[in-house]
Amino acid sequence: LASLEVELGKIPEGSSTVVKWRGKPVFIRNRTAAEIKEAESVNISELRDPESDADRVIDPKWLVTLGICTHLGCVPISNAGDYHGWFCPCHGSHYDVSGRIRKGPAPLNLEVPPYKFIEDGAKVLV
Ligand code: FES
Repeated sequence: LASLEVELGKIPEGSSTVVKWRGKPVFIRNRTAAEIKEAESVNISELRDPESDADRVIDPKWLVTLGICTHLGCVPISNAGDYHGWFCPCHGSHYDVSGRIRKGPAPLNLEVPPYKFIEDGAKVLV
C-alpha cells in the first residue's frame, strides 16, 4: 500500500495540517514550545486513556495522529476545544495537544499511525 511523504516546512508552528492517507485523514501538528510543555505536564492518572505525551510522539515538536474521532468516526476540528487540541463537533469530544481524549463521549485518544521522519527530518513518511 502507498506511503505518503509530507513536507514539514510548509506547516507553520502552532498549526496543524490534514493529509489523506489510505483514505483516512491524518493530522500533523507543528507544536509550539508552550504546547509541548502543556502536553508533557498533564497528570496521566487523570486521563481516560492514560498515555504519556512521550509515548505518542517521536519528536515532541511533531504530533501525528489519525484525524478520526474515536467515538463514532467524525473528523475533529484542529486548534479547537477546551484543551487547545481538537474538538469533535458531532457529539462534543475535546482532545488535547497530544490528541488525548479529555472531555466528551470518545473513549480513546486519537490513534497514532506508524510513521517516520525522512530526509533529515524535512519530511514525514506516513
Ligand atoms: Fe466525535 Fe461523537 S463522533 S464525539
